[in-house]
Amino acid sequence: MTQADLSTHLDRDAAQQELFELLRIPSVSSDSTRRADMGRTAEYLRAKLATLGFSARVDQTPGHPVVYAERLDAPGQPTVLVYGHYDVQPEDPVEEWVSPPFEPEVREGRIYARGATDDKGQAYAHVRGAELLLSQGELPVNLKFLLEGEEEIGSPNLEPYLEAHREELACDVIVISDGSRFAKDVPTVTYGLRGIAYVEVRVQGASRDLHSGSYGGAAPNPINALCEIIAGLKDDQGRITVPGFYDSVVPLTEEEREMWAGLPHSDEQFAASIGATSLPGEEGYSTLERIWGRPTLDVNGIWGGFQGEGAKTVIAAKAGAKVSCRLVPGQDPADITRKLQEFIPTLAPQGVQVEVIDHHGGDPVKFDLSSPFIKAADRALARVYGKPAAFGRTGGSIPIVADFARILGAPVLLVDLGVNEDGLHSPNESFSQEDYFNGILTSAYLMQEIGGVQG
Ligand code: BES
Ligand code: MN
Ligand code: MN
Repeated sequence: MTQADLSTHLDRDAAQQELFELLRIPSVSSDSTRRADMGRTAEYLRAKLATLGFSARVDQTPGHPVVYAERLDAPGQPTVLVYGHYDVQPEDPVEEWVSPPFEPEVREGRIYARGATDDKGQAYAHVRGAELLLSQGELPVNLKFLLEGEEEIGSPNLEPYLEAHREELACDVIVISDGSRFAKDVPTVTYGLRGIAYVEVRVQGASRDLHSGSYGGAAPNPINALCEIIAGLKDDQGRITVPGFYDSVVPLTEEEREMWAGLPHSDEQFAASIGATSLPGEEGYSTLERIWGRPTLDVNGIWGGFQGEGAKTVIAAKAGAKVSCRLVPGQDPADITRKLQEFIPTLAPQGVQVEVIDHHGGDPVKFDLSSPFIKAADRALARVYGKPAAFGRTGGSIPIVADFARILGAPVLLVDLGVNEDGLHSPNESFSQEDYFNGILTSAYLMQEIGGVQG
């Protein structure tokens, strides 16, 4: 079968309508009031996969359910496990959405809804990819789907699930589409993800809020203290000051730096695309190196004191911040968290108590570019986009990926179908219709290429 053949058989209207149904269910994993919606989303996916002839079920976990489905009717062929997540980030700030987050709408060729690209749209492209292949014959591989509902909260129950279902989940390769291509016109194979270590810093001063006239100058101020702490975490070259932070970082090779330098990237365009005037960062590294290959420390949230209208003269009793580090190969999230917990309190000025709480972590990963599956992905992408793929890493994290490699012992293939401009986690998240339809074709061709069967 030729490329034109499969593309002609793609039912774009049905593919879009079903994605809309999925996007209408507000499956926000962090929101306990939406528990029932999580179950409905899992059931929707199970039922769909069952109609495609998969043996499909919803498995309960202590948290949100896992959807597992398999269709193993290609004896002697490789087995592919597709992983995706049906949970989404919270929709806030809801007033910034042009159309409501859970009422999908197409504007100028883009599907707008929370989860459109992260990850319902990308995961569903694989479901429709299987449907497309089945509409023309048999699947070229044995296919398994593992769709979880807790990725956005750190996949707390998936590792034990993998352990418990190790044999059932056995496969030759794990395929994941849950990130961004390098650029709109560039098909991409992603061969690395950063890890993450996430802590919360809580600073306590006096036992109650105080009048800043009666006490100011004498009382400890936890907000000032927190600012000193944060300022002390980086030096003027953008390097993180936590002792030992870089000790185990695997340095970028010259080869990799050269490959990245050859990618079509412009700092000016990149800055413009986020509405920034310049790109501060660690000295001595390019933008792509900073995002893909270097660890970071960013404050993700900060609170304390008076936030209301007008002015209130008060010294707050408490302040706090959420701080996350993206990690690169060599670094261990537990080790970095320990180092943050040891160092941060030493930066505090007198008179405040500091607590550093561990939220969640995830290991970084980097894959071998010479794997035959990467070559299969390259060929599949060339069939869809008519050009060779770029090979890059990504700055985001999918913590379960390291567990896949470790527990299932299979290589992971990251074939990203969206782009950063889709606005993952932002208001007005979207997925271009073209990317969604190309994603369905990519999935179908990828299965053919992995199966060594090109129809
Ligand atoms: N799909 C993203 C990860 C991602 C984003 C990969 C951009 C590549 C490019 C995933 O859903 C996500 O948001 N992951 C979190 C992990 C966290 C909750 C542990 C992240 O990266 O912040
Ligand atoms: Mn995702
Ligand atoms: Mn996400």
